[in-house]
Amino acid sequence: MSQKVAVVTGASRGIGKAIAYKLAEKGMIVAVNYRSSEKEAQEIVNTIIQNGGKAKSYKADVSNYDEANELIASVKADFSSVDVLINNAGITKDMLMLKMTEKEFDDVINVNLKGTFNCIKHVTRIMLKQKSGRIINISSVIGEIGNIGQANYAASKAGIIGLTKSMSKELATRGITVNAVAPGFIESDMTDILNEKIKEQILVNIPMKRIGKATEVSNVVAFLASDEASYITGQVINVDGGMV
Ligand SMILES: NC(=O)c1ccc[n+]([C@@H]2O[C@H](COP(=O)([O-])OP(=O)(O)OC[C@H]3O[C@@H](n4cnc5c(N)ncnc54)[C@H](OP(=O)(O)O)[C@@H]3O)[C@@H](O)[C@H]2O)c1
Repeated sequence: MSQKVAVVTGASRGIGKAIAYKLAEKGMIVAVNYRSSEKEAQEIVNTIIQNGGKAKSYKADVSNYDEANELIASVKADFSSVDVLINNAGITKDMLMLKMTEKEFDDVINVNLKGTFNCIKHVTRIMLKQKSGRIINISSVIGEIGNIGQANYAASKAGIIGLTKSMSKELATRGITVNAVAPGFIESDMTDILNEKIKEQILVNIPMKRIGKATEVSNVVAFLASDEASYITGQVINVDGGMV
């Protein structure tokens, strides 16, 4: 059997990095996308190769339609197929609505939601021809329950859920599954910036009383990307310690 090829957006750090390692461990060729962390992305590629896997890094800003197209086209040119797409790249620009600027709203929507659309748009053509594919979009519990100061982020992550459900229906008869994973509060650079008081407040709302690990998200992503998940589509799987 030929090796599956997976594109992981925003794979230079945090959850994306854990997903890249997990998919490589499962025997997939991994395209490690980054926007600015070139050194970190290359280190991940080197580690995968040292462990006997195959990987390559790709610089692209997924919020840019043409760069997303170039990313998917380059991976296809390098490895002949794109079997798995993980839309993980994401940012936050938290602010209460009264103070939130138009730019803060647009930036978050453009990376999180438009970036997911851009990559799906370009990969769909390839997957339709292959008559198979797995698309997994990283949403967030915040897209389900909302949060003070995160109207932009919550809207982008709720949008990802709507996009996931619509695409799953469009592609259901074509051997392509589309699912979302909604992490709760996971250790990463994105959550490290929060002060201890906010972290304590968040823990109050997590029944398991601990922050999740990136590997606890990547395990679920790897399952959805596998052949074992062939009859699962249009779902949102929460990885949140019981938060929602
Ligand atoms: N951590 C959590 O608690 C949590 C909870 C729920 C959902 N999530 C979601 O999980 C995903 C990963 O989060 P994380 O915590 O791992 O974040 P992170 O540590 O801040 O990493 C973000 C990643 O996204 C990349 N990125 C940002 N903008 C990009 C763009 N325009 N084009 C391509 N790549 C871009 C970054 O690349 P560079 O390093 O090159 O900038 C980096 O690799 C996000 O979608 C986030 O919303 C996280």
